[in-house]
This record gives sequence, C-alpha cells and structure tokens, in this order.
Amino acid sequence: MTHVTKAVKGTHDLFKESLRCQQAVVSRAREWLEAAGASEIATPVFELTEVFERGVGESTDIVQKEMFTFTDRGNRSLTLRPEGTAGVVRAYIEHGMKVWPQPVRLWYAGPMFRAERPQKGRQRQFHQVGFELLGSASPLADAEAVALSYRILETLGLRDMKLKLGSVGDAEDRRRYNQYLREALSPRQDDLSPDSQRRLSTNPMRILDSKSEDDRQVLKELGIRPMLEFLGPGAREHFEAVKRILGGLGVPFEVDPAIVRGLDYYARTSWEIHHEQLGAQSALGGGGRYDGLAELLGGPPTPGVGWALGIERVCLALEAEGVSPPPERTLDIYIAPLGEEQLELALAAAASLWPEVRAEYALSPRKPGKAIREAEKRGARFVGLLGEEEARAGALTIKDIASGRQQTVPLNRVREWLESGGEL
Ligand code: HAM
Repeated sequence: MTHVTKAVKGTHDLFKESLRCQQAVVSRAREWLEAAGASEIATPVFELTEVFERGVGESTDIVQKEMFTFTDRGNRSLTLRPEGTAGVVRAYIEHGMKVWPQPVRLWYAGPMFRAERPQKGRQRQFHQVGFELLGSASPLADAEAVALSYRILETLGLRDMKLKLGSVGDAEDRRRYNQYLREALSPRQDDLSPDSQRRLSTNPMRILDSKSEDDRQVLKELGIRPMLEFLGPGAREHFEAVKRILGGLGVPFEVDPAIVRGLDYYARTSWEIHHEQLGAQSALGGGGRYDGLAELLGGPPTPGVGWALGIERVCLALEAEGVSPPPERTLDIYIAPLGEEQLELALAAAASLWPEVRAEYALSPRKPGKAIREAEKRGARFVGLLGEEEARAGALTIKDIASGRQQTVPLNRVREWLESGGEL
C-alpha cells in the first residue's frame, strides 16, 4: 500500500510557531490598515483564468508558466489565484464600488498559488497580506500605500530592510522604452536565452527581470539605460511628488532606477521591500500603481495603487532577526479524574470553564503524581484533581504546581477563583 502522509511539494502545514507568526503578521497589518480606513475583503481562491491572463499579463512568467489552471465540469478554464490584486479589482467592478465614497481602501489576507520551483522563501502555496486603494490617482495615495507597507514591517520588529522605489512610467513611456530595448538588444539577439529572444518581440522589459546568466551578461555589456530615464513629464512629476511626500512622512527609501516587477499591470510608481538576510528570495513584498487594470478586465477606468507582503518571507526575516512570535496562550488548568466514575465530571468541569479559562482534562483516570507530571509537560500552572470525595462535594482540589500548595474549591467557583489569580 502506498502512503499518503506527505504534503504536496511546495506546500506546508502551518501550526504552533509557524502559524502564530503568520497570525501575528496579519493582525499587525489589520491594525494599521483598518486604522487607515481599509475594510477587509475575501475573494475566492479561484477565478476565471482570463482574470489573471488579462490582469497580470500574458507575457509574465506568472501567466506563462506558474499558474495552477484546471477545467471545471462546465468546461470553463479556472485558475488558483497567483496574487490578489486582479481578483480585488474584479470584485470592485462587479459590486459597483465605484459609487461608494472614493477612494475605496481594501485589504486581504490568504493563500496564493504559483507553480514555481520550491526553495527557501518560495513555495507553491504561500500567503500574502495585501492592500489596494482604488479610485485615486493622487501621489498621496502612492505615498500612503508605501508608508503603510513599510510601517507594518517596521513595527513587527524588522530592522534590516531596504525599500526600493521606482517608476515604470506611463504606457507611452514604456512603449518608448520597449522600443529602445528592442533596438539596443537586437544586435545581440543570438546571445540571449530562448525565453528572452521571445520576449524581445512580445515584451522586452521582461528581459530585465531574467534570471539567466547569459541575459544578465548581455545587459551588463550593453550598459542598458534604466526605465527611469524614459519617464515622460506626467510620470516624472508624479514620481517627484511621491518621493517628496514619503520623505515628509519619514519613510526611508532608496531610488531604484531599474525596478522591474513581475506583473504587467503596473504604471508609474512601483516598489519592493527587501530583507538583507534572506538570500536569493529577498523581497518581503512589493506593489505599485495600476491605473489601467480595471479597464483591462472590462470595467470603468479606475486608478489604483496597492501592495502585498509575502507572509512566509516576513516570518523568515523575523526569525533571522531573532524576533519570536507571541507565545501561545498557556494552559491554566489540567483536570484529572482519579477514577472511572469521575470521567464525565472532568469533562463537564473543563467545559464549565471555557472559553475564559484554558482548561484540558484527562480522558482516562490518572493517579495524582502522573496528573501533575502531565500538567507540567503541558505548561499548566494548576492541576485539578477530581476524586470520589471531590465529586461528592461538587468541588475540585486545585494544586499550584510550582509551590505545591493546594486548596479545594467548589466547582461553580473555580472559574472566578482562577480569574482572580488563583492565590493559594
Ligand atoms: P508580487 O511581488 O508578485 O506582487 O508578490 C508580493 C510578495 O509575495 C513577494 O514580494 C513575495 O514576498 C511573496 N511571494 C511571491 N511569490 C511567492 C512564492 N512563490 N513563495 C513565497 N512568497 C512569494 C503581487 O502579488 C501584487 N499583487 C502586489 C500588489 C498589490 N500590487 C498592487 N497591489
């Protein structure tokens, strides 16, 4: 018989510290984002494949080779979401959020799926927390979004971060830049990787994002000029404003003149936050403005800007900096029945303490000594012994494990007694 006792490659079970860290990241994000006026949105984990083909972009690595796509029984092509923005913008259009007071601020957290080669910091199912601000083209919105992404990480305790800010310009600027790249790279076409030779006609900017050593070498030798030099007056002015406002907010950043993001929907501002101790997969998160996205999906023109953080990577970074997740709630009391007759009463006693008190009970009889050892192993402060005498009196003998002191407390007073500190 074959065993099915292993999670699928690139997926992970989360529990104890790993889950607590994820929850801590999400609650810190929730705190900041809701303070800034965002409400939470949960979109489905799968969408029509077209949402991503059109949204993320046909020529991106994500759409070309990283999507988990399947056909449902009605012969529709569906895809597990590789990212959250396209689905959120689809929902904004579908639910007519355009008539809500603008801008609309939304945040989300959940699993995303990309069929990448798994390595440290790169999974096939991973988790993001993200923020989208829709309905404003103002550079204030960009600065707000960048500042929030940075402050969340900073207040989680991270120090070794670098915020790289750039601009990918307006559509017309990118057309000129792509034209420049095509002209500059064509003479060296044969030295490029097969993927990049294809990109030369479809979307030359993608070549700048290539991981191939050959491609990197060609780019270096040709001394390719960065996107930032190709910004038109509109995008340039916007970028200057974003930098000025961010400076005013005291968010430290450095300008990355050649920022390349892995998604096609970006226009103007884009940024990434990197962690210095993470190695190859060092981007904790990234984002940017995506003013054309709503129209690509068939909606009304709607400017937008947002970001997502990779939660697993944030947790790796926190671990590297020695920041531990908040501890699990400790067990207050471990209740042990001393005989078969007290089994059900032990459960009833624990149940009467929930949810204010964290209480576990033994499911079979225990001798007092063993009960105390088990309580200690579980990190409980008290053990509650429930024998014949206690059952008759409707009470629990509570022992403070550290001091060894004990007291018999009526069952209906145990919760109050524990909540008031359980002084013996
Ligand atoms: P992204 O840069 O593709 O942007 O992903 C954001 C973050 O998700 C990355 O910086 C990384 O930390 C994490 N991430 C991505 N792929 C993986 C993976 N395979 N394993 C682990 N972590 C990963 C977006 O997804 C955009 N939707 C962000 C955005 C929102 N732009 C505008 N609004």
